[in-house]
Amino acid sequence: MRRLIVHGGAGRITPEHGEEALRGLRSALDAGWGEIDDATEAAVAAVRWMEDSGKFNCGRGAVLNLRGRAELDAALVTGRGEAGAVSNLTWTPRAIAVARKVMEETPHVLLCGRGVDRFAKAMGFPKERIGTSARRKLYLELRRDLEKGKGDRGRWSDGRPSRHPAWWTPLRKLVREHPELLHGTVGAVALDAKGRLAAATSTGGIFLKMEGRVSDSSLVGCGTYAGTDLGISATGIGEVIIRHMLTRSIAERYRLRHEGVQAAAERTIAQMPDDSVGIVALDRKGRFAVARNTSNIAWGSRSEGTSSVRCGLE
Ligand code: GLY
Repeated sequence: MRRLIVHGGAGRITPEHGEEALRGLRSALDAGWGEIDDATEAAVAAVRWMEDSGKFNCGRGAVLNLRGRAELDAALVTGRGEAGAVSNLTWTPRAIAVARKVMEETPHVLLCGRGVDRFAKAMGFPKERIGTSARRKLYLELRRDLEKGKGDRGRWSDGRPSRHPAWWTPLRKLVREHPELLHGTVGAVALDAKGRLAAATSTGGIFLKMEGRVSDSSLVGCGTYAGTDLGISATGIGEVIIRHMLTRSIAERYRLRHEGVQAAAERTIAQMPDDSVGIVALDRKGRFAVARNTSNIAWGSRSEGTSSVRCGLE
């Protein structure tokens, strides 16, 4: 059984944005399916397509941090125990390809910051500007709104003082008003005819994040996970996913309770704060799951068979 499942982020997805996301996911499925003889190639090809498209919050379309710069995170994990990841990459939009190089060319799992930029350069990736003009325009607008909203600085909504930076409270308000700021992370999980699984995730993180923030997407067992039996890619609020080690928690539940992949994902996610996360998962038998506690998740799946492509805004 060969299967590929992809997602284009979770959140409150407007119908207009949803249509665009589903079109992108269909193309990503085509790109990945062309490589489905090898699960790793297929997962990477699907994510690479989304990075190149500029339509999702990853690669060329990544959101910008508080200083107006894109910092990219990505991870690739295979069921054979291999893993490669990058965090805070700024050299090239091809984050998943650099993560793969980390996996194949270094003794390490995760490279970040200046080191990952130097590594990408050494691996022959040309330097490219990241961030579309639409992202930059939105950044300037949001930054202005954020500055205006600083009146309630450092306080939670019930008036308690907050230990978080002054911009965090207005940023939460802004995210409520612009739910699109939270979605657009992408991921793919592939199963090939040899029963091999691979999971890949790529993101620009959260708009106006602090410089140097590391997302769940680049952390094995948090936003991205694969074992011999199950592969998972997550999307949503990275801080929640990291605290719950979401993908690894789902895998453990799946193994220990024999509940099936959909039930394991739903029951794990039910323990998380509302409106925070979504996942796609695929097991070795080709059974897949799409689960979330957000309003929507954009997903698509392709497998052998007549009605082989399914996409949805669940
Ligand atoms: N899940 C993507 C992020 O929080 O950066």
